[in-house]
Amino acid sequence: MPRLESFIDEAKIKARVAELGTQITNDYGNQLDRPLLVLCVLRGAFIFCADLVREMQLPVEIDFIQLRSYEGKESSGEVKMTQAPRSSAKNRDILIIEDIVDTGRSMTWLLEHLKDESAKSCKIACLLDKPSRRVKEISADYVGFEIEDKFVVGYGLDFDESYRDLKDVQILVND
Ligand code: IMP
Ligand code: MG
Repeated sequence: MPRLESFIDEAKIKARVAELGTQITNDYGNQLDRPLLVLCVLRGAFIFCADLVREMQLPVEIDFIQLRSYEGKESSGEVKMTQAPRSSAKNRDILIIEDIVDTGRSMTWLLEHLKDESAKSCKIACLLDKPSRRVKEISADYVGFEIEDKFVVGYGLDFDESYRDLKDVQILVND
């Protein structure tokens, strides 16, 4: 049976999300001519997105996209969009909100896709970043925490659809 080990506690996440919110607010400032289109990547980012948008003092429109690249704990290497956003990306300033950038395949695919759809600008905010796992050269614009190569769950992140409801981020240990 896998066990859980504490990793990033609730208070630390809350404080970091507030910092990111301020940084994003300052960066977009009054440069927006239309509300920022926030694209929440389902399912993992739903909690991070809900918390982060409330720390941003900006006009936003929120939409959802679902991507799949993972089976169990291993990336399959192939990215599929299993739910398309309702809004058109054309001429929009877009902020992608993602739970974790791992191999980088999902975010590389999504940036390409939004470019094809003629987005005006596109940035990525992720709660977690595992740079040592990168297969595609990509970096997020806003990173909550850079972490080592550990499989983590909680605060939206799952292992086979479990543990998304945890208030903190924990390491799933198999021993
Ligand atoms: P990438 O395309 O390899 O960057 O994978 C991104 C997706 O893999 C994330 O959106 C997560 O859904 C999933 N993922 C990667 N690492 C973890 C992890 O440690 N815990 C839970 N999900 C993960
Ligand atoms: Mg995901």
